[in-house]
Formats: sequence, structure tokens, C-alpha cells
Amino acid sequence: MTTAGSRRTFTEVATIYAIIAAIGGFLFGYDTAVISGAIGFIRQLFGLEPAMEGWVVSSLIVGATLGAAVSGFLSDRFGRKRMLILSALLFIVGAIASAIPSTVAELIVARMIAGVGVGMASTLSPLYIAEIAPARNRGRLVSIYQFAVVTGIFVTYFINAAIVRFGDEAWEINYSWRWMLGFGVVPGLLYLLLLLRIPETPRWLMKQKQEVAALEVLERMNGREAAKSELHEIVNLKEGKEASVTELLRPGLRLALIIGVVLAVLQQITGINAIMYYAPDIFKQAGTGTNAALLQTVLVGIVNFVFTLVALWLIDKVGRKPLLVVGAILMAISLAVVGYAFQAENVSGMLILFFILLYVASFAVSFGPVVWVMISELFPTRIRGRATAIASFSLWFADFIVAQTFPILIHRRTGIGPAATFWVFAVIAVVAVIFSAAVVPETKGKSLEDIEKMWVRK
Ligand code: BGC
Repeated sequence: MTTAGSRRTFTEVATIYAIIAAIGGFLFGYDTAVISGAIGFIRQLFGLEPAMEGWVVSSLIVGATLGAAVSGFLSDRFGRKRMLILSALLFIVGAIASAIPSTVAELIVARMIAGVGVGMASTLSPLYIAEIAPARNRGRLVSIYQFAVVTGIFVTYFINAAIVRFGDEAWEINYSWRWMLGFGVVPGLLYLLLLLRIPETPRWLMKQKQEVAALEVLERMNGREAAKSELHEIVNLKEGKEASVTELLRPGLRLALIIGVVLAVLQQITGINAIMYYAPDIFKQAGTGTNAALLQTVLVGIVNFVFTLVALWLIDKVGRKPLLVVGAILMAISLAVVGYAFQAENVSGMLILFFILLYVASFAVSFGPVVWVMISELFPTRIRGRATAIASFSLWFADFIVAQTFPILIHRRTGIGPAATFWVFAVIAVVAVIFSAAVVPETKGKSLEDIEKMWVRK
């Protein structure tokens, strides 16, 4: 087989595996968006107080935080593929259980189960892709995962809108939300069935000293000759004993861990999910009517979707670092202007809409995909599962804090009001600019093994 020929084969096969693994991102996006359509009916049916409503919304995030935390240890031990399968199963069980509860407590437990699945998949899908991808287009392939997240968010707005049309008001309150949450079974089952067809990653197999199986997978994707040299590179870095988490605290890897965790937290505390979860509320506060606010929310989805595609195109060309720096600068500017617009009376809702869209676009080409790419490629294979999980756990925990505090902060009565809230996000975005420019290394085009060597030298 010619080099060019084998390369083409490699990319094609890796892309198919990447797309399958990325469906985990779709489940993530689905659950991010589905609750926004369902919560109003759930509130009416169960007569929810605000605090209880908060629990219904954030139970998924709590479950996901837990799922992210355990995914690393479990996947280092039992394999990436098996744990992805477990995540799909949990998601399916959670979706079914969310459709049939008769009490709020049952609903919260069901959402937590689905959340554990989402948290595991959110960590392991990008990690799986990073471990099978060729270095030169690893950024793009892992970004397919983020693309699946935003597709999930976008498609779900329409699924929700379609479901409410099925019945009258009584039906909406009693049943529509059950169909919305239960519909997750469809992508969940599809994910499960497709996962059965992908191989374990060669890098995990090597870590388990299963050289023959690893070579087989590499050959399937890479052709015989290229497979041998790649295996050789992985073998060179193989260590005799299993690494422990304390290794991450030693100089060198400690820096990798700090970068992973800080990027993960910054991705969330620059406010993306304040927009994703509460966009209609924000637009209403800016003086927009309910219907227009919903329409503007759909615009947010479209912009997020389109600019994630731009990121896919750019990430292996210009690299991770420039995207992070430029993206965070634009995020800081747009957040500051949104803050100003809320402060100054008589500013048009259109201005707010424009800068929120600019913010979402900037996030979608930078911190959205790049953070997931980097936390799955920064760490050495022998400890990648656990290290990526620590970063992913931090990300979900930060998401939980933002989701809980934003509705309190944004109201003048209970918090600091919308202007100051957006300024806080803007200041954090400035921190993100400085951190990305000064501390984050470029990993574009490097093999995972080259990245690993980078930390040894430090
Ligand atoms: C983030 C999610 C967010 C989504 C929005 C992802 O990268 O991790 O929290 O909802 O992007 O597109």
C-alpha cells in the first residue's frame, strides 16, 4: 500500500470511529437543551418552588460531575470502549426513568442517572478520539465531539418544539415533558449499537500490554508498515508499572494538570452556560417579548453550530493557542459590551443580541472545542483517563456553580444585576486571554507521545 493510500485509509477509518464516539457529545447537547423545553410543564404539574426547580434542572449536572469523576479510573482499568458502552446504557436507563416518574424525587434520581452517563461520555468520547486519531488531524477529529454537542443542543430545540404541538394544554403539562426527556432513548440506543462496532484504542491496549491486539487495530486503520512504526513509538514510552495519580503532582506533569484544570474551569466561568441555559430569560430582561426571545435563542443555536464548523476547519491549521487567545479577547469585549448595554438605559435589545451572538461565536471557535481537545491530549497514556477525568470533573463542577448562581446574580433584587454579572464574566475572560497566551503550550501536529515528552523536559 502506498504511503498516500494508507494515509487516506487511516484518516477515513479514524474519522468513522471518531464520529461514532462523538455521538456521546450529542447526548451531552441533548440533555443541555431538553430541560429548557420541559421545565415549564414540570413546574406546573408538580407545583415546584424555585429551589426544587433548581434541583430538577441541575440534577443532571450533579450526576455528570460524578460520572466524570469515576470515568477516569474506570476507563484506565477496564478500557475506553467498555466504559463508553456503560455510559450509553446509563443514559438509556436515565431517559426511560425520566419519562415515567410520578414524583419529583423520582424525576431527580432519573436525571442524575442520565447525568452520570453524560459525564462519563463527555470525558471518554474526546479521550477515545484523541487516542485513535493521527496527530496531524487530531484537533479536527476531537472537535467533532464539540460539533456533536452543539448539534445536540440545536436539534433538541426543534424536537421540543415539535413535541408540544401534539396535544392540548392538559396534555402538554402531563405528558409532553415525558416525551421530551424520554426521546433521549433514541440517540442513546443508536450510540450503544454503534459503539459495539468500534475497537478499543491501541494506546489503551498497549498500556494493558496487549501488543498483538493493539497492532491489529493500528493495522486496520493505518496499513501494516505505518502500524509497526506507530506501535514502536508507543512501546518506547511504555512503562513497566501502572502510574498513580500522585505522579500528576510531581513537577512536569503538575503543570499539565494545572493547564488542563484551569482551562476546563475557565471554559465554564466565562459564562457560556449562563447563555445556553438562560438565554430566553436574558433576552426578556433586555426588553424582548417572549416569542422573539425564543427566536433569538434559536439564533444562538445556529451561530454556535456554524462557528464550531469554523473551528473544525481552523484548529489543525492555526493551532490551539491562537484560537484560545483571539477567541477569549473577543469574548471579553462582547461580554463587556453586553454589561454596558444592560447598565445604560435605552440601549436597544438588538445591540445585546448582536454582542451575545458575537460572544457565542467566539466561544464556539475557541474555548468550546479547544478545551475538550486539550484536556484529552495533554496527559501521558498511562494516566490519561484519570487526569482527563480530573479536568472534566472540574469543568462540570464549575458548570454547576454557574448554573446555580447565575439566576441569583442577574436579578437586581437578589444579586448584583445583569450589568455587573456580565462584567464579572468579562474580567474572567481577560484572565483567560492572559492564561492562554502565557501558559498554554501549542500541541498542534504533535503525536501524543511527543506531547508526553514535552512534560519530561520541563
Ligand atoms: C461546554 C458546554 C456548553 C457547550 C455549548 C461545551 O464545550 O462544555 O458546557 O454547553 O460547549 O456549546
